[in-house]
Amino acid sequence: MSTRGQAFGIDIGGSGVKGAVVDLATGDLAHERIKIATPHPATPNAIAETVSELVAKADWDGPVGITLPSVMVNGIARTAANIDSSWVDTDARQLFSLALGGREVVVLNDADAAGMAEDRYGAAKNIDGLVMLLTFGTGIGSALMYRGTLMPNTEFGHIDIGGKEAEHRAASSVKERKNLSYKQWATQVTKVLVTLENLLWPDVFVAGGGISRDAEHWIPLLGNRTPVVAAHLRNTAGIVGAAMAVDAGIAP
Ligand code: BGC
Repeated sequence: MSTRGQAFGIDIGGSGVKGAVVDLATGDLAHERIKIATPHPATPNAIAETVSELVAKADWDGPVGITLPSVMVNGIARTAANIDSSWVDTDARQLFSLALGGREVVVLNDADAAGMAEDRYGAAKNIDGLVMLLTFGTGIGSALMYRGTLMPNTEFGHIDIGGKEAEHRAASSVKERKNLSYKQWATQVTKVLVTLENLLWPDVFVAGGGISRDAEHWIPLLGNRTPVVAAHLRNTAGIVGAAMAVDAGIAP
């Protein structure tokens, strides 16, 4: 089924492949999201099979937007920082399109999708300037939007800060692995934010990823100057952004 004003988004993550029909007027899901456990190893062919199973379950026959935690250029995955290395140089758009019977597919970076969704429907919907979303998870994803336009593939999670990549300092996986307190972890996050705000001067940072659910424990501990707000869309941002991208025909 496919209906006007709606689009289908799929968010591919380390533990689950999640998808739903999105109502583009509101950014709400039109039904409960469908989640299938990510196959391991998460190779391109295994993920493509899961994607086709998910779309069949949803009974959706229109175009599909899909996120990957990779730099995406012309439908091709150029990096694989926290996913199976066999994704590098895979033509993901072609792979998914073939798995879905040749239909139109748009593939974009996971943080870019979340950023677009927060920018239009979520935490930054009333901000008219430069919005930077950072997702804190296994790694750090980034998205930069200026007045609603995405600059794709920014990859600020890999910026060098004092000899260490930002995501190796301040991803939420680092907090877990090293058993850091919120205070200790917030010191690392502050370093990342100060570096980025001094270079790019965003009007606001949107903090996404699972740990944004506990934002009241750590956002008040940050010492940078730019306001930081917690993401609103929580675990639907990737799905919503993927649906927006396919609706707009955006193919970074
Ligand atoms: C990847 C990004 C991705 C982020 C969040 C980083 O390690 O390089 O492409 O957006 O993780 O998944």
